Parts: sequence; C-alpha cells; structure tokens
Amino acid sequence: MKITKINKTFGDKHVLKDTTLDFPAGKTTVMVGPSGSGKSTILRSLNLLVVPESGHYDFDDHHLDFSNKITNKDKLAVRKETGMVFQDYNLFPNKTVLGNIIEGPTQVLKQSKEEATARAKELLAKVGLAEYGDAYPNELSGGQAQRVAIARALAMTPKYILLDEPTSALDPELELSVLKVLLQLAAERQSMVIVTHNMMFAKQVADKIIFVENGEIIYDGSPDEFFAPDNPNQRIKNFIASMTMEDLK
Ligand SMILES: Nc1ncnc2c1ncn2[C@@H]1O[C@H](COP(=O)(O)OP(=O)(O)O)[C@@H](O)[C@H]1O
Ligand SMILES: [Mg+2]
Repeated sequence: MKITKINKTFGDKHVLKDTTLDFPAGKTTVMVGPSGSGKSTILRSLNLLVVPESGHYDFDDHHLDFSNKITNKDKLAVRKETGMVFQDYNLFPNKTVLGNIIEGPTQVLKQSKEEATARAKELLAKVGLAEYGDAYPNELSGGQAQRVAIARALAMTPKYILLDEPTSALDPELELSVLKVLLQLAAERQSMVIVTHNMMFAKQVADKIIFVENGEIIYDGSPDEFFAPDNPNQRIKNFIASMTMEDLK
C-alpha cells in the first residue's frame, strides 16, 4: 500500500503536502505526531473517507490518480479491503455484538447468516469476548466495545486494518486489553496502520514508525532508530520525552 505525492486541503489549509509513504504488507506501521498534524487525514485517505486533490494511491490492484474523479465504485472496492477502527468504536447501538459483526459480511460480502455467525463467534473468541455475542453495545466497557469493533473489522477479512487512536478513549486498564489484541494481530502478520499516542505500545508493536508534524513527514523508518536515545533529531527526542513524561523525572 503506497501513497505518492498526495495533497489535501481543507478550506485554505494545506494539510498534506506532497506526502509520499508506503505501508508494507504483513507489517505494522505506526503513525505518531502532535494533534492536528495530519495523521487522521493520511489514514482516512487510505480508505478514501478523505479524497486528496492530487497524487497517486497504489494498493494491490487498485491504482488511483487523485487528479481524476474517484468514483463510488473505487471507494467501495478500497473500503472492502481496508477495515477502519475508530477511537469511539462506532458500533450500531441497536444491534447485538454478533449483529454488529455479521452486518458487513452478510450485506457486503453476501455471506449466509450461518456462515457469518460462525466466523463472528471465532473472532469474538479471538478478542476474548466469546460470551458477549448477545450483549448490546451499551452493556460493554469501552475496552470490550473496541475489541468488538476490531472483530467487526476482521470479519470482512480486509487486507489492511487501519486504526485511528484505538485506545485514546479508554481507561489505562481497559486499554491494555485492546493493546494485547493488537499485539497478537501484529504477531500474526496482519497488515496494519495504527495511529497512537501510546509510545510504549508504538515501540513494542511497530515494524515501522512515521512521525508527522504539520503535514510533513519528519521520520519514516525503523522504531529502533526512532526511539534510540542518541536519535540526532532533537524534535523527535523532545516529542518522545513529553509523551512518555520523562520530563517529570
Ligand atoms: N473535515 C475537515 N474539515 C476541516 N479541517 C479539517 C478536517 N479534517 C481535518 N482538518 C484539519 O486538518 C488538520 C489535520 O487534522 P488531522 O488529520 O485530524 O490531524 P491529527 O489526526 O494528526 O490530529 C487539522 O488542522 C484539522 O483541523
Ligand atoms: Mg487524528
């Protein structure tokens, strides 16, 4: 998955400036950076919730030139293969947990209800929620709801899973239950792109780190170099220090 020289403006604000990045298959790419820097805009471009004004997007057999009109057909095809997980879960409140998970597979992939339900139960077990199929979203903790959202994304067997600050709304204790699931998926080589503010998690899960500031890519490389105490980039060192509260010491 690769974007080349994409540009996106909101009003007169030029948010992405010739942004070029690749997101290797079978790996976990983590995007970090201050709020408002453009991380969500990049992530949303990858499943065409945001459509840049120019640049190219190559994802498997999808080859899009944003100077041309992006059709609904393009959007649907890309979205089928990219599962999005949002900070606030976005579960359907009037459907059970199982109902939430089988919605996409039955409606979009045209699986039978039986087939979709059997797979949904496997996925619920995988995220540690085997007992919760008949529960409603408002009966779940935030950590449980987010794990359902991850199971729902996986149910579409997307090539990539895109996660936008998946644990930012969670208490630290509940956060851990979600991070463990994501570490497990990373170990299984699920292709993922994760935006997070949790530096400890980023360090553990990332195969590749991208640091974004003001729409510019300040760093794109290995986590080892990024987190190295002798990283020559003082801005990155300061960012990591503030995010890990090292300055309190
Ligand atoms: N739909 C939108 N309409 C107007 N401005 C937006 C929109 N989405 C994002 N922006 C602006 O683009 C910039 C980057 O936002 P975003 O990608 O959400 O940053 P991040 O995820 O790094 O916090 C911010 O200045 C934000 O206010
Ligand atoms: Mg964001």
